[in-house]
Amino acid sequence: MIQLLKGEALRHLFFITLLLSIASVGHSSAFTLQDTLRADTAFQPATQTQADTIMAAGPLAVTSALPTMHSDHLLRGERLFFGLVYFADKAVNCAACHTMYQADTMNWNPGASEISLKYLNKGSEELENVLLRPAGKKMAEAHASIDLTSQDVVMIKGFMDHIAREGIKEPKPVINRLLLFIFFSLLFLFSIVDLVFLKLTKRKLILLLTILISITYLTNTLVKEAIAIGRSQFYQPDQPVKFSHMVHATLNQTECLYCHTTAGYSHSAGIPSVNHCMNCHIIVRDGTNSGRFEIAKVVDAYDNKMPIQWIRVHNLPHHVAFPHDQHVGVVGLDCAECHGEVEKMDKVMQVNDLSMGWCLGCHRTREMDIMSNDFYSVYMKLREDVLAKRTDMVTARMTGGTECMKCHY
Ligand code: HEC
Ligand code: HEC
Ligand code: HEC
Ligand code: HEC
Ligand code: HEC
Ligand code: HEC
Repeated sequence: MIQLLKGEALRHLFFITLLLSIASVGHSSAFTLQDTLRADTAFQPATQTQADTIMAAGPLAVTSALPTMHSDHLLRGERLFFGLVYFADKAVNCAACHTMYQADTMNWNPGASEISLKYLNKGSEELENVLLRPAGKKMAEAHASIDLTSQDVVMIKGFMDHIAREGIKEPKPVINRLLLFIFFSLLFLFSIVDLVFLKLTKRKLILLLTILISITYLTNTLVKEAIAIGRSQFYQPDQPVKFSHMVHATLNQTECLYCHTTAGYSHSAGIPSVNHCMNCHIIVRDGTNSGRFEIAKVVDAYDNKMPIQWIRVHNLPHHVAFPHDQHVGVVGLDCAECHGEVEKMDKVMQVNDLSMGWCLGCHRTREMDIMSNDFYSVYMKLREDVLAKRTDMVTARMTGGTECMKCHY
């Protein structure tokens, strides 16, 4: 009877294991690295001035400077901010637009910590102004239904100051996969120990299967993790200013090279300076999606002569050199071949893994036109071969594009 029960229990364990492993295999490619990267960019001050404000208003400075707020009031401020206080039709949920967490898609409304920081050193009358007498089309629309008393605004302000000082809490990273990893490791250990020493389980087959499954899961995870170190395909950080390629490159038809001016003749494609943005934003101050808030950051950076601290999306390891000039200027490749449809993205995402295999794959297979491109006039031999039809396709491999030193030096 006891043996039977044990067998039964093990069988259950086995099926649970099987289900769990099937469920997890699909997820393991997007393991913790992406989560870590994402968490790293939780909130970035857009400009040095903002960063200075935070520094200057460090927790101690602020607590001593501000009249201390009663914790009941803070709680009421929080409930007002989350729209929990009034009856449904009157409640305004600030957090529905001014989110506490970052989203995967572009949220055009300013985040809760951004508005809080902006008003940290301002009085609650100023907050009352933007809430009850909003300026600008977008804000007037968004704040139209707000109906608060000055008292309420003071309490909301108290909660916003609290956010500005304490920061918003990041959601806990997914630990499921780590737990699974530990679970399988333990299962593996137990099965081995039982098989060799304890011999509790009579059915060896079940033990062997458990070992097989756990070992498959463990190696699968380890290999994927090892490959993913330093790579960040699908990396899509939040930027300090909600700059959208969709808005600029597609809706407003701005050429890539108008902003990434050096892509055609230099290794680096370059990111436009604040001055460059101001070519247009000296006039354009209202965005259809974001209102004035985001463009105001650009103007602020310009007035304070501070750069916007963009977060780099694509980043090769230091031992690799990638020349944009050769690919864009000489060969004339389209940006989309490597970067995907950036013009459709609100937030830039790295779509290719930028691995060595990816580079070499194209260098080996991609047909090049060396006949009409003057850059390749030195390749006499190759040109003769093409004319004499001894080669039907010239690839970067034939011009040395797979030699280690071309990319590593
Ligand atoms: C109005 C100026 C502007 C135009 C036009 C523009 N970009 Fe950008 N681009 C930027 C800015 C600013 C950034 C940095 C912020 C970001 O990553 O969103 C950027 C970032 C990028 C990045 C990511 C860089 C990194 O950090 O790895 C790529 C790739 C890119 N642009 C490609 C393009 C392509 C392709 C086009 C044309 C379809 C284009 N851009 C048009 C301004 C511009
Ligand atoms: C070639 C002109 C031009 C340049 C250069 C330019 N912008 Fe814009 N930008 C526009 C226009 C036009 C709009 C759309 C305004 C609207 O929605 O009506 C806009 C909108 C925006 C918006 C608001 C988007 C929305 O829909 O709410 C932001 C933020 C922005 N730009 C940031 C930048 C930054 C940062 C730079 C520099 C890297 C930059 N822009 C460079 C023309 C430009
Ligand atoms: C329907 C969405 C929505 C709701 C609800 C909302 N807001 Fe806003 N809020 C916005 C948008 C959009 C902007 C940016 C508009 C602009 O800059 O033109 C904004 C801007 C702000 C700003 C920055 C103003 C500035 O000087 O740039 C503050 C502060 C603010 N909101 C506070 C609040 C508070 C507090 C509540 C709740 C009582 C609230 N908002 C509710 C959408 C919303
Ligand atoms: C053959 C592939 C390829 C093509 C084509 C390409 N890029 Fe890139 N791009 C890359 C790689 C790889 C990186 C990362 C470089 C690094 O980290 O050193 C990069 C980085 C960037 C960056 C980040 C800043 C920098 O200069 O390193 C921008 C911006 C960018 N590319 C824009 C463009 C634009 C705009 C075009 C089209 C005119 C373009 N790229 C065409 C592969 C390409
Ligand atoms: C979509 C195709 C494509 C991709 C992807 C690509 N390349 Fe290239 N690359 C080319 C072509 C075509 C040439 C031109 C070969 C030549 O000029 O000899 C080239 C040339 C080069 C050269 C210059 C070789 C020389 O002769 O001076 C370097 C260096 C280089 N690539 C590095 C890279 C790296 C690093 C990556 C990956 C991060 C990469 N490439 C990805 C197509 C590609
Ligand atoms: C077309 C460009 C290119 C050529 C040619 C090239 N590599 Fe790489 N190599 C890369 C890139 C890009 C990486 C970074 C890959 C990554 O981050 O996974 C890399 C990474 C490496 C690494 C580090 C291991 C790793 O995966 O990160 C080694 C070692 C290496 N290459 C050796 C070589 C040798 C040896 C050759 C000549 C046979 C060579 N490479 C030719 C582009 C190239």
